[in-house]
Order: sequence, then structure tokens, then C-alpha cells
Amino acid sequence: MEEKNENLNKKVAAWWDDNPFVYSFEKKEVAPNVDFFREVDRKFIKWTPWGQRDMRPLSGMIDYNKLRDKKVLDIAVGTGWSTEQFARHGATTTAIDISPKAIDLTKKRFKTFDLPEPEALVADAQNMPFADGTFDFVLAWGCLMHMPDTEKAIREIHRVLKPGGRMAAMMYNKNSLHWWYYIWLSKGILRGKLLSMSAQQLANRYTDGVYQGGNQLTKFYSRKDIKKMFSMFNSCKVRVYDTTTPIDHLPHRRVPMGSILPIRFKNYLTKKLGQSLWIEVQK
Ligand SMILES: C[S@@+](CC[C@H](N)C(=O)[O-])C[C@H]1O[C@@H](n2cnc3c(N)ncnc32)[C@H](O)[C@@H]1O
Repeated sequence: MEEKNENLNKKVAAWWDDNPFVYSFEKKEVAPNVDFFREVDRKFIKWTPWGQRDMRPLSGMIDYNKLRDKKVLDIAVGTGWSTEQFARHGATTTAIDISPKAIDLTKKRFKTFDLPEPEALVADAQNMPFADGTFDFVLAWGCLMHMPDTEKAIREIHRVLKPGGRMAAMMYNKNSLHWWYYIWLSKGILRGKLLSMSAQQLANRYTDGVYQGGNQLTKFYSRKDIKKMFSMFNSCKVRVYDTTTPIDHLPHRRVPMGSILPIRFKNYLTKKLGQSLWIEVQK
């Protein structure tokens, strides 16, 4: 990795270590116990209703039962909500995160729920310590867009997957209300932030960690960008998801005129302009 990226990567790792991702807008005390972990799970489900079929986080997007006895790599695990689901469904799971705190929390989560200690290690997804063709399935939820060399991480995922192996990821959608309206127009233009900040700095400031002054690196991608970045895979499906809240809150959350739009129109707009890209690829 070139020196500039290496320095940024260190800053990214240190920031996440200081600010473990707990699905809360405020800085929350991290007290690893049953209530803490189940609160993270509840918040995940609340933030991502489109990903749920039942009360297991991401049950609407991942058929956990099909992963029994499969080798699963869970990239950038945060507090380990997804790692717990893979393990509970009998997958042979390896968890990695660049933040030692995240790995510690994931191990503590397993201990808290009396699950066997998982294989969980501090590792960089841009340079993974695994042999070629190791895994059947990889999850990369909300993380590839925080890495300086996202393309390298994607090449690594391709390398460590078995032929026919699959990966699913969530990344932020550039062609979204979130980016173009709430960040670029509202903060950048109307509040004049683009006079002193670059578009990249705006993205870092007003996405994850917004109440902590922003994080070190958050990138937005269009569907076209994604298709290009994952073009080495045999297939790549990209879909847009969100709640209708960003539309309800138009033009401003204190003047939520968008909420009076017909629900079918809101659902239509959400499918085009939602914040999350759900990416499924097969090697
Ligand atoms: C927004 S959090 C998401 C965490 C988790 N997927 C979740 O949803 O709770 C981003 C995570 O990516 C991790 N991360 C950032 N860069 C990474 C890298 N190069 N390799 C592995 N993990 C990384 C951070 O430490 C952090 O835990």
C-alpha cells in the first residue's frame, strides 16, 4: 500500500478502535454484557428494517440455514452481531476487523452468550492472512467504503473465495438523497461547507460518527462504480435499499412534507435513491 494510504489506514483503524460501531448516534458506553449486545442487535434491526425477515439481524438478506457447515468469513465485524448469527447457524466462521477493540468485543459477545470462542482476529481486509480459495461465503457489511484501497479489498475477497463462492456487502449509494440532498446540497452548498471542505471531507464528516465530528474515511459509490469494481466476479447483483424516512423528511426533518406523498411513490423513490447498496457477487 502506498504511504499516503498506509497513513490513512492507520488513522481509520485508530478511529474505529476509539469509536466502536454500536448503532447509536450518540457516543455510547461500551459495557459488554447481554443488554449491551442485544441493544446493538435491536438497533441494527431498527435501522435496517429492509434487511429483516425475523428478529435475527439480516435474516431477510442472508439465508443463514444454507451456511451450515460452510466456511464463512465475516469482514469488519464491529461488535460481532453477524458473526454470532453465522456461528449459531453452524457455519465455520472466521471474523476479522482492523480494530482490536472490535475483535475483543466479538469474543466477549460469544462469551456473554456461552458460545464457543470464535476464530476472530485483528486483520486488514486489504491484505488478508488467508490462503486462496478458503471460504464459501464472505460478508462485508458497511466496511469496504471505509478502506483507503477498496479495490484491493475486493481483489482480496475474490482471492480468498472458493470458485463458486459468494460475497454479500453493504456500501453507501452515491446516487441517493442522503448524499446529494442531505450532505452535498444541504451542508455543502446551502450551509457553505464546500467553501472550506472537499466533497470527501463532507462525506467523512456527515456519515458515520456524525456526533463525534465525523470519521476518517467514508466513500459513496454509484451502482455503475460497483459493477465495475466487482467485474472480476462471474455475477454481480446490486440493489438499493432504505427506509422511507429520508423522503418523509423532505425538505427538512422539522418540515416533513415528504410524509404526505403516497406510500407507493415513496417506495418507488426509495428503490432509486435509498442510501444502501446491497451487493451480491459470485466467483
Ligand atoms: C461502520 S463499522 C461496521 C461494523 C460492523 N460491520 C457492523 O455493522 O456493526 C466499520 C468497521 O470496519 C472496520 N474496518 C475499517 N477498515 C477495515 C479494514 N481495512 N479491514 C478490516 N476492518 C476494517 C472498522 O474497524 C469498523 O469495525
